[in-house]
Amino acid sequence: MAGRIPQTFIDDLIDRVDIVEIIDRRVKLKKTGKNYSARCPFHDEKTPSFSVNQEKQFYYCFGCGAGGNALGFLMDYDNTGFPETVETLATSVGLEVPREQTRPGAPQEEQSNRELYAVMEQVEQFYRQALRNHAKATGAVNYLKERGLSGIIAKQFGLGYAPPGWDNLLTALGSSDGQRALLLKSGMLVQNEAGKIYDRFRDRVMFPIRDQRGRVIAFGGRVLGDDKPKYLNSPETGIFHKGRELYGLYEAKQSNRKLERILVVEGYMDVIALAQYDINYATATLGTATSKNHLERIYRLCPEVIFCFDGDEAGRKAALRALEATLPCMEDGRQARFLFLPEGEDPDTVVRGGGTAHFEQLQSEAMALEVFLFETVATGIDTDSMDGRARLSKRALPYIRQLPQGIYRQLMFQSLAERTGLEVATLMQLEAPPPPPQPQEVPVDEDFENLPGHQSQPRQRTLRREIMGGYASNAHAAIALLLHQPDIARLADPAQLDELEGEDIGLLRELLDLRRRRPESNTAMLLGHWYDTPEGDLLSKLAGQERLIPRDGIEQQFLDTITALSQLPHRAKLEAQVDKLKLTNYAEVSELEKQRLRELLQQKQQRDAQRNKNQN
Ligand code: UTP
Ligand code: MN
Repeated sequence: MAGRIPQTFIDDLIDRVDIVEIIDRRVKLKKTGKNYSARCPFHDEKTPSFSVNQEKQFYYCFGCGAGGNALGFLMDYDNTGFPETVETLATSVGLEVPREQTRPGAPQEEQSNRELYAVMEQVEQFYRQALRNHAKATGAVNYLKERGLSGIIAKQFGLGYAPPGWDNLLTALGSSDGQRALLLKSGMLVQNEAGKIYDRFRDRVMFPIRDQRGRVIAFGGRVLGDDKPKYLNSPETGIFHKGRELYGLYEAKQSNRKLERILVVEGYMDVIALAQYDINYATATLGTATSKNHLERIYRLCPEVIFCFDGDEAGRKAALRALEATLPCMEDGRQARFLFLPEGEDPDTVVRGGGTAHFEQLQSEAMALEVFLFETVATGIDTDSMDGRARLSKRALPYIRQLPQGIYRQLMFQSLAERTGLEVATLMQLEAPPPPPQPQEVPVDEDFENLPGHQSQPRQRTLRREIMGGYASNAHAAIALLLHQPDIARLADPAQLDELEGEDIGLLRELLDLRRRRPESNTAMLLGHWYDTPEGDLLSKLAGQERLIPRDGIEQQFLDTITALSQLPHRAKLEAQVDKLKLTNYAEVSELEKQRLRELLQQKQQRDAQRNKNQN
């Protein structure tokens, strides 16, 4: 089996190709200023917001947030896997892809995962062949036909059959101790307490579950009759984490050059039945709730998701959980809607009963996220009474607060204001900072104004968000500067950031570390390390916001930002001290402590003034 492709080779390859040339061959680019632009191939748009930066060798779409280096573009545009894309790209510049020997030094996990993928491929072959050739397969074939599936669809989803009996797979593929161990590890064979080994799936229709790159990582198996359990799924393994996968996502990507929306349904058969009716963009969570991780994955591919749920109580509950997972992902331009089907129906029965057009019609009537949200929180509340409206805002706020900053969030506040008759400003005041607060975002001034003995100043803004040179936080500003000019990494010591917490600070630290280890890394290479991860999305976005980068003094700006960041713990300590003093009754505070409090306030004001100066 082919070994791992060394990272140094990938970096080198990225360095040799020209992203403009590569993209231009697929999407006609136009030179606009120093960059190139086009209409984005990953989402529908009238005016071009897709931009390619030749100097830094990356692309970014301001419309949908897609972004990355040449390799990432090819994988997404051509829908190809990683090794394959590296091969193609290497061939185009006349390089041969080296492979690392699988040596004892290679990471254990990676090596065994590779073996797992390989064995799952064999298992898939085995089940598919059984569906075609096995003497007892007629029942399964008839079952699938009865459910309205064509051979083409069965083939597209790689459906198979696990024949009845305890050792079909064992006999066919478990020829050696090593093979048997692997099959056990993959969950396809089971060993009982007496040590006996047997097939996990017996007399079931088999649904291979693929990862984003199309590799089979698990199976679901359905009984032909009414036995229990109806569906049996692979256990969690080194390559299968149920909560992360979406059944049918790979197939949806395969049948759509550009996905415009994704449907999230509950079952395997729903996905397949919809595909049979040309609705080939449905995915199913695997018996788990929809998670934020799922949503991020979906929104990386398209701007709209429609959840389909049963109209019953359980369906509503599941929808609410989906809503909760969706809120933090609702950046501007993204959409989420909810489709409630009649009780007792699922997408499979609805589409088979009513046909494609009917189902499409239902989709177009699906409930917008905001409608579902307000409907849910208003349940059981009399919104005509003042008390009811107060309760409504209390219930709605924790949800709205989950939304990321943006126009959509503002609109939701406005909508809540209209529904409750409260001012938007009042609602925003009610809005407590989400725990844990990001120190640089907390509007602390109000607290200080409320201190006993402190001269209250007129409030300028009710909600003060400090925007760091246009970025959401100093960590983002530092990352953006770093991506713009990677060599400034030398100016910062990752250890300076050790005391700090927060995901994006972790990312900043990792970037600094990476650049230390590989000082030749340019922007495109840095991006490549986070391809297809939520961090990667953030990095592309920050890299794409070039207009916020100052023309000169980048180094100084970077240093200032790092300094500001490294002072955060100090600032937090300062505020904690003030908080503690505030809790004590001012009359009982000793003269010494009062003096201390005044000093602290002064220090804080100086710091703030300094910070404001730095920002301007
Ligand atoms: P449903 O019970 O709604 O079944 O389970 P379904 O999808 O309509 O199945 P058909 O139409 O009878 O074939 C929905 C999903 O929940 C998971 C499966 O992912 C299933 O597709 N499930 C259900 C299980 O994992 N195990 C079960 O025993 C039942
Ligand atoms: Mn069903």
